[in-house]
Amino acid sequence: MIHSSAPGKLMLFGEHSVVYGNPCIATSINKRLDVYLNDKNEHGKELKCTTIDALGIKSKFPSNFEQHKFLNLTIAKFFEKYGCKNFELTTKPIPKGLGSSSAVVVAAVKALLTLYNLNWSNDEIFKFSYEVVKEGQKGKASGYDIAVAVYGGTIRYENKKIDIKDANIKELKSIKNLIAIDTGVKSSTTELVREISEKREKYKQIFDGIFKIINEIVDKAEREINNENYEELGELMNINHGILNAMGLSTYEIENLINGIKPYCYGAKISGAGRGDYIIAICKEQRKNELMNYLQDRKIGYFEILQDKGVDVEIY
Ligand code: MEV
Repeated sequence: MIHSSAPGKLMLFGEHSVVYGNPCIATSINKRLDVYLNDKNEHGKELKCTTIDALGIKSKFPSNFEQHKFLNLTIAKFFEKYGCKNFELTTKPIPKGLGSSSAVVVAAVKALLTLYNLNWSNDEIFKFSYEVVKEGQKGKASGYDIAVAVYGGTIRYENKKIDIKDANIKELKSIKNLIAIDTGVKSSTTELVREISEKREKYKQIFDGIFKIINEIVDKAEREINNENYEELGELMNINHGILNAMGLSTYEIENLINGIKPYCYGAKISGAGRGDYIIAICKEQRKNELMNYLQDRKIGYFEILQDKGVDVEIY
């Protein structure tokens, strides 16, 4: 049995701006997507076909289920390059909004490489996975989530022409007391990326200015992360959040949530496309318990973000 896994992600600074070739900072989380790959049945006999078992649905490859889209594409690309094999591929997912699509592709690639006895570098895994995700995704995507799934940790990511050849990935220090808080609302990244792209067309100069400021925030945040200056990092989060709000990406509920947790935190902001999914906050060490009580009393979902390693595999 081959077992591979890749971490989910959250965006710390530079969402949307990264889609236009600007830098962002993102972190891995210790929620991992698992892929199990078996090419023999329980009696040790070779399998007669390839099957995908994911999100509660089992199907023969190629699968017609939309839920299997990314796995289908990954396997198809592999078969095209290296020839067909029979196996059963099963996944254990992570919640939506935490990078499940990128993690499933990266973990599946690692499992297939192991099955085919291929030894690729992380850069090669990143390039291949990015091609798969680009093909499966409608609209623009920066690829930062794939980079996090491959390399893990906390990274600065920049992809100048939204073209793989220009991807620049730099590892940063881990951040302490970082909390992810569930807004309870699901948002659509594709739609929000399209909306911001239309706004950018309309207000080109204003958005050039906005992205320039976000670049400065990212540069400064990188230094504060590496120097462990969490108070300043929180301030930068608040500034970045204010900009995202001005871009129309916050909601009344998100603003209420952020205002409610303010006393316990150095800063908080939207993480990712906006209008839902998770927000992130950097809390004051001495007020962490109070923050958790505040969230628990209101039945608001949260977890502490512990950075995790990148894609991994084991055979047993
Ligand atoms: C979504 O998690 C982050 C965006 O910047 C889109 C992307 O980078 O692909 C909005």
